[in-house]
Amino acid sequence: MQPGFFRTLSTRLLQPCKSAVRHPSLIGPVLRGTEIGSVLKQHLAIHLQEPMTNTLEPSPDLINFTCQAIDAHSHACFRLGYLYDLCLRMRPEKVVETGVHHGVSTAFILNALKQTGGRLYSIDLPNVKYQTDNQSRQDDVLLGAEPGFLVPQHLRVNWELLIGDSRQLLPTLLRSIGPIDIFHHDSMHTYEHMKFEFEAVWPHLRDGGLLLSDDVDWSRAFEDFCSARKLNYRIRKGVGIAPKNIRHSSSYSKGSLTESRNKGS
Ligand SMILES: C[S@@+](CC[C@H](N)C(=O)[O-])C[C@H]1O[C@@H](n2cnc3c(N)ncnc32)[C@H](O)[C@@H]1O
Repeated sequence: MQPGFFRTLSTRLLQPCKSAVRHPSLIGPVLRGTEIGSVLKQHLAIHLQEPMTNTLEPSPDLINFTCQAIDAHSHACFRLGYLYDLCLRMRPEKVVETGVHHGVSTAFILNALKQTGGRLYSIDLPNVKYQTDNQSRQDDVLLGAEPGFLVPQHLRVNWELLIGDSRQLLPTLLRSIGPIDIFHHDSMHTYEHMKFEFEAVWPHLRDGGLLLSDDVDWSRAFEDFCSARKLNYRIRKGVGIAPKNIRHSSSYSKGSLTESRNKGS
């Protein structure tokens, strides 16, 4: 049997089926044989046109607000949709993210920036790589697609995509753009790489800005980083939230903010 045969089988059958199981609303189109990339694009476009929430209470507390937004999206098809609400609320001038992949987080951030202004700088490798301390895997869906391929054309005006290793690109980018409002880590989830990104970003985050990390339950990097600096932080459904130099209401006490170490849906 030719290797090409297995590749075709995987791309045409196994990968779409896996995605459909993760996102049940994709089962119909997948069974009808629609190409999975177009299915995902259509699906995301609907969510961007009809954002699930922008009706959250404008809580004065940034950590509380972020948790509300995460909860509101945690059962939705796109759990990173919370970034949309957060950007609408914070109206950031500069957002930096590492880890673009299909571009789901990117699209939600840009959807908000289209309304508020501001710029998103994203860093990703040319070939999707998905690495943790315990496992190394190529993500299964749409291998070979260019980073951010799901991001609709009309949202790209506020976007700068940098292709390369964040280890090289992140420090240079941060030096050149000045203080940033939000950083979102979603690149390589090894302890060492996560710590590297958090440490690189922290001095460039403005007071009142927000450090966010996806998948913080895959290593202790986020908690160690925050504990070493005695930061007020919280972990909600696998997302790490650490505002910089914000005074918190009495409902918060340092070091007691970790609620859940389970990854959200
Ligand atoms: C979890 S995915 C990102 C998912 C994305 N935020 C989304 O919403 O679709 C991880 C991405 O990080 C990228 N990545 C891994 N190591 C990296 C590195 N050292 N520098 C930059 N990007 C990296 C991978 O190529 C992959 O696209």
